[in-house]
Amino acid sequence: MQHPVRIAPSILSADFARLGEEVRAIDAAGADWVHVDVMDGHFVPNLTIGPAVVKALRPHTTKPLDVHLMISPVDPFIDAFADAGADVLTVHPEAGPHVHRTIQRIRQREMRAGIAINPATPVEVVDYLIDDLDLVLVMSVNPGFGGQSFIESQLRKIEALRKRIDATGRHIDLQVDGGVDAKTAPRAVAAGADVLVAGTAVFRDGPTGYAANIGRLRVEKP
Ligand code: DX5
Ligand code: ZN
Repeated sequence: MQHPVRIAPSILSADFARLGEEVRAIDAAGADWVHVDVMDGHFVPNLTIGPAVVKALRPHTTKPLDVHLMISPVDPFIDAFADAGADVLTVHPEAGPHVHRTIQRIRQREMRAGIAINPATPVEVVDYLIDDLDLVLVMSVNPGFGGQSFIESQLRKIEALRKRIDATGRHIDLQVDGGVDAKTAPRAVAAGADVLVAGTAVFRDGPTGYAANIGRLRVEKP
């Protein structure tokens, strides 16, 4: 059961001094979701933004705010992101000792719950969680930075997860994040991905290029 391919620009590559304008610009350029990368300088070697920024961005778009948490511990911040207006909250299984509980809490707060799978993390991590998931995110780079190269081995992981998701018969989005551009997007979609996150490939060239950049990622399913 696949869904149309959706494009989620990562504002990690936006101009941080003009984030509201940048979100409005990608919305107008045809973004389906807005991907927000939250980093803590501990779980990943970079620091970005937190719930206050998500709250400030909320009035700038009606599109889903897709918040990718690269923070540990994660549980103390779930309520803050729910209150800020996040629609999707994705966590890494390594970010806390009880990821099943974390997923339940995200759903209790009426957000869609996602799990993010690092390049070296095996797909089996979803096996006892999948009935409670709304999204699985395959990291096609090691988390922490934009502008890295797509790791080929993750195509096999996308294929394996597509099978697991289809076996549930439920709507679970299969997202790919990292190094997605006009060359890798068709390969990720062919492997079974249906939400593409892209930072560098969308935000290069400035706002006049966003619509064309998003358009180049909008590949047909095989
Ligand atoms: C990396 C982030 C990604 C990143 C993608 O930790 O999760 O969302 O912004 O950036 P690009 O598209 O430049 O690889
Ligand atoms: Zn991300």
